[in-house]
Amino acid sequence: MARRSVATLDGGTWQATAMADRDSRSGKSYLTEEISSYASQVHASHDAAAEQAFAAPTSHGMPAIMLGPLEAKFLTVCMHMIGAEKVVEVGTLAGYSAIMLARGMAPSGKVWTVAFDPTHAEIARSNIAAAGYGDRIEVLVGPALEVLPTLEAHGPFDAVFIDADKENYPGYGDWSTANLRSGGLLLADNAFVFGGLMSDTAAGQNMRRFHENTAAHYHSTCVPTPDGMVMAVKK
Ligand SMILES: C[S@@+](CC[C@H](N)C(=O)[O-])C[C@H]1O[C@@H](n2cnc3c(N)ncnc32)[C@H](O)[C@@H]1O
Repeated sequence: MARRSVATLDGGTWQATAMADRDSRSGKSYLTEEISSYASQVHASHDAAAEQAFAAPTSHGMPAIMLGPLEAKFLTVCMHMIGAEKVVEVGTLAGYSAIMLARGMAPSGKVWTVAFDPTHAEIARSNIAAAGYGDRIEVLVGPALEVLPTLEAHGPFDAVFIDADKENYPGYGDWSTANLRSGGLLLADNAFVFGGLMSDTAAGQNMRRFHENTAAHYHSTCVPTPDGMVMAVKK
């Protein structure tokens, strides 16, 4: 097996096999906790407001199911890329990802984020206010499939980020397709459904339907983050 040597900063050498790239192309990930922690520190370190929102689920006894810092910063960078002004988020939790979306948007921008649980919504509002976005991120409460139609008058939207109950992703995707502007960005986390994407469960089947519908209406890809992030531009 061919090997190549790469000089390291500390003067040592690191050996890589030529097979490595084929492994990564077929799905092997080189991400480790140590690498993730280093990359997060370099690219996505938290200031006090981001840390408050990130830590809130744990400190308030909520499920700690927010994005990782690198994925959250990915949202910020995406919003910068498209000059987003009007964004909808499905799945608020404690407001961490909503804040990270807003941080990439123009000062005149607005995020509408949908929370299922009123207690979560209150905690999110307090984190959002502490981050300075009280007037630019609106938290709406209720089942997203009922709340989303109430937002349509504000559309068309520049971006939609989906991060809620996985069985409803096809419905959220259909709503996004109808309410994003042409060239608008669709992002959806947990696109590998915690490893169950190819299973015969309802979650696996629904998520495959979401992938296939998205591919039909968007220039789409699935970024191989730890649990997959669909990223798609509406045709
Ligand atoms: C994975 S968490 C969102 C994490 C958040 N995006 C972040 O990274 O900070 C999913 C959220 O979606 C909410 N949720 C679940 N089902 C929902 C539904 N049908 N409508 C609205 N929100 C829902 C949950 O209560 C939870 O707060």
